[in-house]
Amino acid sequence: MAANQLSGTTPIIFYDPARHPRYATDTPALDQYGRRIDYLRVSLTDRCNMRCVYCMPAVGVQFAPRPELLTNEELLLVITAAARAGFRKLRLTGGEPTLRHDLVNLVRELKRIPGIEHIAMTTNALRLRKLAQPLREAGLDRVNISIDTLDPLKFRMITRGGNLEEVWAGIEAADAAGLHPIKLNAVVVRGMNDDEVVRLAGLTLERPWEFRFIEVMPLTGVAGLAEEGIVASAELIARLEQHYGPLEEIGHAPSDPARTYRLPGAKGVIGFISSVSDPFCATCNRMRLTADGRLHLCLLRDDEVDLRAAVRGGASVADLEQIIRHAVYIKPWGHGLPAGVKPTLRGMSELGG
Ligand code: 5AD
Ligand code: SF4
Repeated sequence: MAANQLSGTTPIIFYDPARHPRYATDTPALDQYGRRIDYLRVSLTDRCNMRCVYCMPAVGVQFAPRPELLTNEELLLVITAAARAGFRKLRLTGGEPTLRHDLVNLVRELKRIPGIEHIAMTTNALRLRKLAQPLREAGLDRVNISIDTLDPLKFRMITRGGNLEEVWAGIEAADAAGLHPIKLNAVVVRGMNDDEVVRLAGLTLERPWEFRFIEVMPLTGVAGLAEEGIVASAELIARLEQHYGPLEEIGHAPSDPARTYRLPGAKGVIGFISSVSDPFCATCNRMRLTADGRLHLCLLRDDEVDLRAAVRGGASVADLEQIIRHAVYIKPWGHGLPAGVKPTLRGMSELGG
């Protein structure tokens, strides 16, 4: 196991349940700080049909060869074990999850796993016009859709080629299919789209949507852009209040990273995800599963626990549950950005936000 020089931790762990004490299986998994981890973000592919500037570098992205990705059967086994360990909510991410072969059937199978109560998806919406209805019928509960600007030309630049009209059609299709509540995400970067925050928030005046502004994070490949371009949520709130008047603060679940507000008279709400300026690690309830079968313990750290080797080595669901419980137990307390520790191994397009 190679030590990670930056974080001083061991980034990839191959845990063997046969050689370690067993975790109790009669309670949901808790980490060593007492947090209940019950939300798994599942990356279905590292590929994407866009190339957003804050997510992927312009050149040099290497995609995983298909044999390295978990198959649907392997994924179902892993999620069955995760549900036994206490995971209740899934979010399908990517890359772009709608590029996954056989997505509708996969969702149907995932929804049948005992213990899985809720399945959401984060998507760029390009393929939702066709997929929203079948996904809803297969059991998908909701979607979050990324939309960083309302200007088609700017959209093309930020996404390096995306078509804003198709995204709008996707949003309308998700709305029509009942994938409610619709949440829209914008990553805010200074000089790129921070001048549009007033317009984007204004969408909630007429629509019962939640529009969330996300602080750009320094993942591998985009760290420079993120550091220069970050706009703290407090600044956005001040700008919105200057335009719309005082925002009404709304309560939120402790594990929801978005702090929510309402513009005066609005049908929907706006949210701010301030991972950098105001970390919410103390109430974190999540882990990530990469498309190549590793549990990624904290978005902004490198630590991972390998599940694929176990699955391909013939591990039982009970063994996988033990590995997942161990991964939950050793989840880092939080990210190290304030101390200057940045993730180095995976880009956002492999982790899915
Ligand atoms: N910082 C913050 N959010 C990001 N996303 C992609 N890259 C970044 C970044 N560097 C967002 C996408 C999407 C979610 C999957 O993650 O916009 O909403
Ligand atoms: Fe959780 Fe890590 Fe995100 Fe903090 S940075 S909220 S610990 S996933």
